[in-house]
Amino acid sequence: MSRRTPIVAANWKMHTTVRTAAELCQALRESIDGIRGVEKVVCPPFPFLALARETLAGSSLKVGAQNVYWEEKGAFTGEVSPPMLVDFCEYVIIGHSERRKYFGETDETVNRRLKAALAQDLRPIFCVGETGEERRAGGTEEVLLRQVRGGLADIEIAPGFVVAYEPVWAIGTGVPATGEMANETIGLIRREMASLYGGELAQAARIQYGGSVDGANIAEFMAEPEIDGALVGGASLKADVFTAIVEAAGRLKGTG
Ligand code: PGA
Repeated sequence: MSRRTPIVAANWKMHTTVRTAAELCQALRESIDGIRGVEKVVCPPFPFLALARETLAGSSLKVGAQNVYWEEKGAFTGEVSPPMLVDFCEYVIIGHSERRKYFGETDETVNRRLKAALAQDLRPIFCVGETGEERRAGGTEEVLLRQVRGGLADIEIAPGFVVAYEPVWAIGTGVPATGEMANETIGLIRREMASLYGGELAQAARIQYGGSVDGANIAEFMAEPEIDGALVGGASLKADVFTAIVEAAGRLKGTG
């Protein structure tokens, strides 16, 4: 089995200003540029993508957007298309649970966004996750398989494709999943990907854990065999904490 390069992404959500975004990018460039064997991605709000790209140019840090529309252009006030993003970032978060919850995102719209992003060679970070209610009702597996199948319908993936498993009940709550629970659930997602794409592509896919990851608990997740990095919200807004997370991912899971 080939070793997967872990990927740690900072999801800034709707935080920062032009000043604090510049400061955070600069601080991260200084503190994590030299950490090898782990892919590092910073996902600021749209207005700061150009600034992030400029500040991080020539470093090992990559830039990602937090969403993308599926049409290329047209009368879609307020939307941002894949061709607009390609000059600013390499990655794009798609299907985050906050978009599903507050903005009516469905498996079908997630699928359209994924297709549109891939058509422009943007690399998606495809998010899935069950709510607390769904887990308590024993519906975790069913929900995740539906999200994976629906999101990835008619899509070919390349080796290294990124999925983020983010249980909704763990996001922003300070109550993360346990490493064991996340590992088991990610294993289930990987098995479903194997049934869709075959064992080799499923083994090469990188599946992150997300939900209240911080400097203190990252080691617990990185100790698990199925977990290939983290999608980090709140803790990614503090340069020292995000640095500690990336360092731990590199130390415990880094390749090369
Ligand atoms: P959190 O957010 O780390 O603040 O829980 C994670 C996410 O929503 O990606």
